[in-house]
Amino acid sequence: MPDAVLRYGEQELELTSHSGTEGDTGVDIGKLRSELGLVTIDRGFANTAEGLSAVTYINGEEGILRYRGYPIEQLAEKSDFLEVAYLLQYGELPTKTEYEEYEDAITRHTLLREDMKYLFEAFPHNAHPMQILASATSALATYYPDALDPLDEEAVDLSARRLIAKTPTMMAWSYKYSVHQPYVYPDNSLDYSSNFLKMMFSVPAEEYVVDPVVANALTMLLILHADHGQNCSSSAVRLVGSGHANIFSSISAGIHALSGPLHGGANQAVLEMLDMIVSEGGDTSQFVKRAKDKNDPFRLMGFGHRVYKNFDPRARIIKKAAEEVLDALGVDDPLLEVAMELEQVALNDDYFVERRLYPNVDFYSGIIYRAMGFPTDMFTVLFAMGRLPGWISQWRELSADPQAKIFRPRQLYVGPETRDYVPIDER
Ligand code: ACO
Repeated sequence: MPDAVLRYGEQELELTSHSGTEGDTGVDIGKLRSELGLVTIDRGFANTAEGLSAVTYINGEEGILRYRGYPIEQLAEKSDFLEVAYLLQYGELPTKTEYEEYEDAITRHTLLREDMKYLFEAFPHNAHPMQILASATSALATYYPDALDPLDEEAVDLSARRLIAKTPTMMAWSYKYSVHQPYVYPDNSLDYSSNFLKMMFSVPAEEYVVDPVVANALTMLLILHADHGQNCSSSAVRLVGSGHANIFSSISAGIHALSGPLHGGANQAVLEMLDMIVSEGGDTSQFVKRAKDKNDPFRLMGFGHRVYKNFDPRARIIKKAAEEVLDALGVDDPLLEVAMELEQVALNDDYFVERRLYPNVDFYSGIIYRAMGFPTDMFTVLFAMGRLPGWISQWRELSADPQAKIFRPRQLYVGPETRDYVPIDER
């Protein structure tokens, strides 16, 4: 008995299926073209599972997100970022010894090659840090040619550790260059988040003490962003990796993919939108009206998600954290009030209710980043810092899969039929 049968005209094709651990089923259409000469059309891959993955489970109807089986709520509350990075890549929470070995390895790779400074200095001071981070990540491959073979597990592991260790340094240095301040070297006595905050915000002239409220909030945000299955950027990372490009080039592609305002770039766009609402008098209903107008390209940034149709579990945690962090830091930001009002207006509006549009991970995160002192154009870079272990895990999973193939989607040609070339003076 086949799992499914597809009938097209007089022809029939028996299809097999795969069952996921949480009861989902995927029908394998791999033979559709060779047997029936058909391809499937699935705009935006909304209904296509590229492969099987054991990294992250998402249930958009029930608002569930789990890394390797562990609920995001528990990890956000109890874990730390390097532990989550380990879990995502190696599949299990580390033992104490494994954790210490991993943390030590990351800490020892935080420095950049000294000549990389010139790379940052080649950019205009007002360059967007996402562009710089993508370029610097890509450039890492040229400094570490010893560990580029995607099929060499040991080399991949070393490159993965280098990436996680050096990304905060690259981010902080791109910021320091943009504000004309000296680069601050990593401090290996600090934890991952605190070291990054020190490289970002300290200057050699003064002592800098990391605020634990800020460091803990950053760790929580990094954990919440660490993976999200096959989204636009993770798919980009996997796609580039499927051609056996090295891990640095693949991650660089992911950073570029994340930069768009429909994806990770939304956290910057949300803040700019909230700023605009405040500067134009704070009338949220006007902006909700604009978002509903099909002749107006304006969208409510931070609202809607391809997968989550009831609520985004990350957004719930971040909303609560935004109130707590601002309170603990003594920050009174009018943008938080406007964001909450906007959420209420939208959630009670038929347009948003019918389309099941809710605040996503980006809606409140920017408000916390701003309270921590990050400039708006660093927000998406912070997203990239969090997502890095997820990209690496997705890439490693694909590289290690013996059934993986180079990605090569089809398309349905709808252009002109064959015609003869016409010389230029006869056209
Ligand atoms: N504001 C107003 N209308 C919206 C919004 C929004 N934020 N999001 C979706 N809609 C409407 C669409 O116009 C469409 O309406 P229609 O059926 O009348 O044509 C309907 O809701 C469905 O939207 P799609 O764009 O088809 O949904 P899709 O799943 O392709 O897009 C996306 C999801 C890109 C996140 C979209 O909701 C959006 O643009 N949101 C704003 C940007 C944003 O916050 N992005 C971050 C997403 S989370 C992340 O990537 C980390």
